[in-house]
Amino acid sequence: MFLLLILYTEFWGKIAKEFYWKTPYTGNFMDYNFDLTRAKIYIRCMQGATTNMCYNVLDRNVNEKKLGDKIAFYWEGNKPEDYARITYKELLQQVCKFANVLRAQGIKKGDHVAIYMPMIIELIVAMLACARVGAVHSIVFAGFSAEALSERILDCSCSLLITADGFYRGDKFIKLKEITDEALKLHGENPVKKCIVVKHLKATKENDKTSTQSNLPPAKRACLKLQIPWNEEVDVWWHEVMKEAGEECEPEWCSAEDPLFILYTSGSTGKPKGVKHTIGGYLLYTATTFKYVFDYQPSDVYWCTADVGWITGHSYLTYGPLANGATSVLFEGVPTYPDVSRFWEIIDKYLVTKFYTAPTAIRLLMKYGDEPVKRFSRKSLKILGTVGEPINPEAWLWYYNVVGDRRCPIMDTYWQTETGGHMLTPLPAVTPLKPGSATLPFFSVVPAILSESGEELEGEAEGYLVFKKPWPSIMREVYGSYERFESSYFKRFPGYFVTGDGCKRDKDGYYWITGRIDDMLNISGHLLSTAEVESAIMEHLAVAEVAAVSHPHPVKGESLYCFVTLKDGHEFTDELVTELKNQVRKKIGPIAAPDYIQIAAQLPKTRSGKIMRRLLRKIARNERDLGNTSTLADESVLEALFKNRVETI
Ligand code: PRX
Repeated sequence: MFLLLILYTEFWGKIAKEFYWKTPYTGNFMDYNFDLTRAKIYIRCMQGATTNMCYNVLDRNVNEKKLGDKIAFYWEGNKPEDYARITYKELLQQVCKFANVLRAQGIKKGDHVAIYMPMIIELIVAMLACARVGAVHSIVFAGFSAEALSERILDCSCSLLITADGFYRGDKFIKLKEITDEALKLHGENPVKKCIVVKHLKATKENDKTSTQSNLPPAKRACLKLQIPWNEEVDVWWHEVMKEAGEECEPEWCSAEDPLFILYTSGSTGKPKGVKHTIGGYLLYTATTFKYVFDYQPSDVYWCTADVGWITGHSYLTYGPLANGATSVLFEGVPTYPDVSRFWEIIDKYLVTKFYTAPTAIRLLMKYGDEPVKRFSRKSLKILGTVGEPINPEAWLWYYNVVGDRRCPIMDTYWQTETGGHMLTPLPAVTPLKPGSATLPFFSVVPAILSESGEELEGEAEGYLVFKKPWPSIMREVYGSYERFESSYFKRFPGYFVTGDGCKRDKDGYYWITGRIDDMLNISGHLLSTAEVESAIMEHLAVAEVAAVSHPHPVKGESLYCFVTLKDGHEFTDELVTELKNQVRKKIGPIAAPDYIQIAAQLPKTRSGKIMRRLLRKIARNERDLGNTSTLADESVLEALFKNRVETI
């Protein structure tokens, strides 16, 4: 064990030397306690060190590594005709200017800044500018609703919000500024003092008499340009404040353990959890996993299709690649617009060498057959990656045989918002692959599989996936609630970090994720809790009770199947079903909308009144072997539920 500790410290200590520390760390590389029966949980990495994330991913590349003229991002817009590029030097310049804007707005180290933006270069600029001034960014996925945005802004008291006028995803138009305004009005007192708006769609302020378009007749104006609501006291245009900003900006020197960002993930109680990551360990871990898992080479063009609003976009579209001085593609659109070849077209356009996407995208594109893929050469590709949910062997094989022409190894990377970076993953040309397995732990990651009673299982086994030791980018807290941090990750099995995933280990020591073991589900690679969807539906006046369960879906992986009991005097109609689905869209966002809603005169409950979701899952799947139902208070409810089942795909 002692030898392991020395190796661990040596390994990460050596990697730390590749980055810039204004002052080095003193003492241990890592200090921690995972055992709440002994003391409070804590994790600290490189204490005493001071640094700046933005300096490491930009200034270091431009000044020390002489990568100033290298392209940092190829931006590919929603429409193939819209594209741009930005070099490291230009990105640094933009970031410095925006960091000065942030300072001019009164933002200082430790302040929280909300970012609600489409996939545009300004989003990356905004994140890195926050990092430069030591502010903590809280990015909210631009597909989330006004309610979801408002909840996140309030939870971590963001004083500034950065957004855009609007954007297109495929042919869907999203009025981002309008949603933003709705969010700010939702809960009376809101902490946001200023809102910086990027003019992405050339919008003009509503009722702006000075704009040239106001000379046009109203119908024509509406088709030509977007008009957005504007509050002179709060709103400022990005381009206007940038015009006046200087290009010199001294980074804020922060402690390695100062927060870098908060990112919300679904919690099993329904309320999202603000996962907090800190600077030093996150920098080392995302940089190192990116380098080894994708075998990063300086000539690479790397493309991660994830949205920056999710952890994959933070770690493997922004910080990890930039820390290595990589060139990446930043894509605003969707894989099916203008047609289902878009991904492969982009790969040929930029000669992408490493491509990282999600099983849901692979399954979606697989439906259209091989022809749309084969229309493009994809000769530049060397390594393929997947993340977000278990990949079924059929999708894995299609990805390998058709997309990668049997030349490109597939890195199935298992990790979480909480882990910050890859935990179980193959390494290219090192790890023999097995379709559907995330294979083996990354360097210095120590997984274990526990039985129900908390025993560590050896050899071939199935149980709860936990980690025995911290790694540099492990989350440091659930923002605002130590209790939630402790109870979500450390309470069930003291001494371990509990992932919430079930897992099998085969005879070769390979790990296979079997899915969530709590009331969470994974729709298109996005975690959701059944509780948050249930509480959104419960807010409808007609609903007396609701239970949501996960149901398999051929493209999304999982979908939601809901059982609702209505209050007296309400009728179950198609309109009501639409209203309930819309209610979830409004409260959480379109990704959470249930696919199926069925009426339930009563829900199956135990004698103590607990809803038996296990039975509901079986009913949704039309599986009649219900197992032991002896704890059920009233067995007769089951027949009616089977009778009213909704046909599923
Ligand atoms: O259940 C696991 C699944 O996604 C969960 C984490 O979701 P989130 O925090 O949103 O982060 C997603 C991107 C890292 C995990 O608990 N998951 C993620 N990657 C895989 C996976 N399941 C199986 N195989 C994977 N490669």
